[in-house]
Amino acid sequence: MSHEDFPTEHPAVVTCGLPYANGDLHIGHLRTYVGGDIYSRALKRLGQQTAFVCGSDMHGTPVAVNAAEEGVTPEEFALRHHEQYEDTFPKFDVDFDNYGHTDDATNTETTQEIVRTLEEEGYVYEKEIPVAYDPDADQWLPDRFVEGTCPYCGEHARGDECDEGCGRHLEPGEIEDPVSTVTGNPAEYRNREHKFFAVSDLQEYLGEFIDRLEGTSNAQNQPREWIEGELQDWCITRDMDWGIDYPGEDDLVLYVWVDAPIEYISSTKQYTDRVGADAFDWERAWREDGEVVHIIGRDIIQHHTVFWPAMLRASGYVEPRAVMASGFITLEGKGFSTSRNRAVWAEEYLDEGFRPDLLRYYLATNGGFQQDVDFSWARFRERVNNELVGTVGNFAYRSLLFAAREFGGTPDAALSADVRERIETAMAEFEAGVNDYSVRDVGDAAVRLAQFGNEYIQRNEPWKLGDDDPEKAQVIRDCVQLAKAVAVLFEPVTPEAAERLWADLNEDGDVHGVGLDAALDAPVATFEEPTELFEKIPEERVEELNEKLDARVEASAAADDADETAADGDVAADESDAAAAADLEPLADERIGFEDFQELDIRVGEIVAAEGIEGADKLAKLTVDIGLEERQIVAGIKQLHDVDSLPGTKIVVVANLEKAELFGVESNGMLLAAGDQADLLTTHGDAVPGTKIQ
Ligand code: 2FM
Ligand code: ZN
Repeated sequence: MSHEDFPTEHPAVVTCGLPYANGDLHIGHLRTYVGGDIYSRALKRLGQQTAFVCGSDMHGTPVAVNAAEEGVTPEEFALRHHEQYEDTFPKFDVDFDNYGHTDDATNTETTQEIVRTLEEEGYVYEKEIPVAYDPDADQWLPDRFVEGTCPYCGEHARGDECDEGCGRHLEPGEIEDPVSTVTGNPAEYRNREHKFFAVSDLQEYLGEFIDRLEGTSNAQNQPREWIEGELQDWCITRDMDWGIDYPGEDDLVLYVWVDAPIEYISSTKQYTDRVGADAFDWERAWREDGEVVHIIGRDIIQHHTVFWPAMLRASGYVEPRAVMASGFITLEGKGFSTSRNRAVWAEEYLDEGFRPDLLRYYLATNGGFQQDVDFSWARFRERVNNELVGTVGNFAYRSLLFAAREFGGTPDAALSADVRERIETAMAEFEAGVNDYSVRDVGDAAVRLAQFGNEYIQRNEPWKLGDDDPEKAQVIRDCVQLAKAVAVLFEPVTPEAAERLWADLNEDGDVHGVGLDAALDAPVATFEEPTELFEKIPEERVEELNEKLDARVEASAAADDADETAADGDVAADESDAAAAADLEPLADERIGFEDFQELDIRVGEIVAAEGIEGADKLAKLTVDIGLEERQIVAGIKQLHDVDSLPGTKIVVVANLEKAELFGVESNGMLLAAGDQADLLTTHGDAVPGTKIQ
């Protein structure tokens, strides 16, 4: 069964993964929130009734561990960070309709009610299980209070999550060689009664659900292995004080992953309480026919496609319509690391004087939503200068300036048929972007329209036409309409610039509230000379910003040396911390002769084209120029690199490796890359494609 296209007659709820209230936000975290905001604005633009909700994730060991380190109560610690997030999101125009938190009365009540229903419906049972215990600290060790080895892949893992290996959720008692993070001593397992949610009873339902689920392909494909495999029941209680009490049990709280997604419902309730059920009816949305779209990082796919839909189903709520799971984000080619201060902090970005629109545009369109994206100041500058300033800003400014100076506003002429058609195409692209769950396509629709506008004005050269020539009025009339359409279409991505462009067009009302059709409504007859929408970033700024970042990382690395075991002080796991701790493989014992090495024909190559292979999570198909010919090479880098930005990159290729077929696609050569993150080998001088490496 496939869902009806947006806009539908049903209320939609768009949610973003709840940030743990445990650290400062950096621009990497903003990717899903900006994506969610763009998506919800775009839905509203299509006329879909939508609530965009989120909240801070206050409970669990991610908060308790960091609070203990700081020597404050988890409540005080979490509230402080919650208030900080509440303050920061609006500064990036991430405009939640409601932003609550998981420790408030609404969520406590909703969570306990849902758990009671699960019990009543027979989905909860008690079982004795081994739970890690630290005899020295005399405490139980839930989740992040214990570390050890993942029983599935053998990598180092946290108590509830194989964060450095296979990414699986781990149940209490599963982790091998448990070590207490409180004392650093080996932990022991002691038996203890806990409550379990019988997810396995819902296996058949989940199998059907995943076939219906829309969103990004990673969220549709990854869970199949879990759902179709041996689906384990889920331990929903923990031995902790901090959390929502399990109803009727004094010494157990609910596992943080129970009450966290329930905040999606609670936050919607609070929205309804504020605006009234006529404006948005939470009960209809969550219990009858709502269109629920979850926007998350890809590390929490399992929770949103297995445990959460199982809970919803068992307690009588609607299932998610879609899950959009974003790729990770790196900074100048390496992971963000909060403990090493290797990050561009959200507040710092603003303090540098950059407008939120620029980052929003970069994060939304620098790669597909599920691809990994690298943030670099150089690329940021390039995209701002070329696309925002050079294409969008330039088109709007030159058109409106010409119109204001020569006609005092919109010339009196009818919109030409082909420009109307081009705007309709952009509107259709925008709508298709929403239905394909692609925030990048939503952003690209507007930029491509502005690009068309620039070409149109350039081709028609109105400045060469005489004042009485009706064609002059016609061209400028068309351009004003195009500028208005750009404001309407670009608003979800760059709301602030859209607002200024709207004001420049002397339009009444609120650009944030208009429907997509406003793109074709007649523009206002009179307006003044416009302002510039975006400013160029000078090259020196990039050097300056990179230097600042390097200096800070160095200073922090020196200070950190003594504190290597620093807990993750982040709102979500940082891959880079894991990478830094990765063990190096031992050197090979066996030596090879120079002749053996010479048998390898290794060449400099240049990527000419790159695209992800559909249906394959990790594989990308590259066309590589190796001087003497072009080769098709398949490489497992789709999730680790921004595939669209690869063309032009020099790489190193083993040219005489036997051909292979991967996912039905021929690979004629192999590129060289280092480590789990596939750091691509390149050259640093002028070696041309085809040059032999020896
Ligand atoms: O992984 C995390 O950062 C969690 N705080 C996300 C929770 S999302 C949810 F389901 F509420
Ligand atoms: Zn694992």
